[in-house]
Amino acid sequence: MSITEGDVAIRLRGVEKRFAGATQPAVTSLDLEIPRGQIVTFVGPSGCGKTTTLKMINRLIEPTAGSIEVLGRNVGSMKKPELRRQIGYVIQQIGLFPHRTIAANIATVPKLVGWDKRRVAERVDELVELVGLDREMLQRYPSELSGGQQQRVGVARALAADPPILLMDEPYSAVDPIVRGRLQDELLALQRRVNKTIVVVTHDIDEAIKLGDRVVLFEVGGVVAQQGPPGDLLAAPASPFVEEFLGRERGLKRLSLLTVADADLTTGWTVEAATPSSEAVEVMRANGLEWIAVRDDNRLLGWVWLDDVAAVTRAGDAPLHEFRAHVTPSTPLREALDGIVTSQTRVAVVIDEGRYLGMLTIADISESVGRGTG
Ligand SMILES: Nc1ncnc2c1ncn2[C@@H]1O[C@H](COP(=O)(O)OP(=O)(O)OP(=O)(O)O)[C@@H](O)[C@H]1O
Ligand SMILES: [Mg+2]
Repeated sequence: MSITEGDVAIRLRGVEKRFAGATQPAVTSLDLEIPRGQIVTFVGPSGCGKTTTLKMINRLIEPTAGSIEVLGRNVGSMKKPELRRQIGYVIQQIGLFPHRTIAANIATVPKLVGWDKRRVAERVDELVELVGLDREMLQRYPSELSGGQQQRVGVARALAADPPILLMDEPYSAVDPIVRGRLQDELLALQRRVNKTIVVVTHDIDEAIKLGDRVVLFEVGGVVAQQGPPGDLLAAPASPFVEEFLGRERGLKRLSLLTVADADLTTGWTVEAATPSSEAVEVMRANGLEWIAVRDDNRLLGWVWLDDVAAVTRAGDAPLHEFRAHVTPSTPLREALDGIVTSQTRVAVVIDEGRYLGMLTIADISESVGRGTG
């Protein structure tokens, strides 16, 4: 791992936690660096020490040994309120205060640290918009909101005092899969706006892969089995444990992380619309093509059948068919693959702001996924 000094938001060195009476440590000699401005996901089987590690970062649990630094300072030497102002915390099962209104829930930390009424009210307004809640919900109580809405309140509350760091423990475990997917998308969109350092604990590997710039996969005892960008874990699992935890469809999971820009495109067979059809037919026959793409300079007009070209004067005079699968460099390869297998020509055309860049075939996709897997 090569993170330079100033870029580390949270650093754990030789951290250990032994609970009284336990035979095995919950966390064993853990070294970890969480880069600033990234989302890092902690994933692993139940009881592997994810929550314990998170709680040691904001000192809800004190480590038995080792040191933890947050933004360059040892947390042991910081006053807890000071530390908590740096760290927003979304606890397992959301944990809103049931007898406080939504507005009062969100305002918890700003009030605690002594903001005046007006500043608190303004901040609550801002947060409601940021996490996508309706203002009319502010005077309701948590039980009067859906699970997904409560979760958004939990995030708003954690962000209230604008901490640089956000710790989230199984934030989406209480909501159904559809809402979960939406909340995950919202978190990614939110992160593009707020650019925090975020640690998300989950036991769902797909969630860890989707959300994490980096994934830390734990084994029981708080031991890191492997960490890195999700694509690296999927491409080269470090042990049978990791491989098993990553589960089935590793190839497809990688496809959803890679984009068209990661693949080497095929130039594809194309002719200019003005090309004499005899010439186009010759090219097609020489290369065993049944169809060919027709372009007008940088623009792709569509594709034509060999037989149709043979019957006209210029390639562009033949009946044009539209390419069904259009992708851009930022399209995930998984989506591009879907387009390819459902199109007649078995290729996706890659267009960037109207400009034709090339074609993508299943072979190109396999090639880019196969790279690095040995
Ligand atoms: N207060 C405690 N006293 C004793 N043992 C504890 C305490 N809290 C946690 N443990 C133990 O420490 C280990 C790690 O627990 P932790 O809550 O960190 O796991 P986790 O990875 O968050 O699991 P889950 O996915 O189920 O939430 C477990 O074996 C647990 O039983
Ligand atoms: Mg836990």
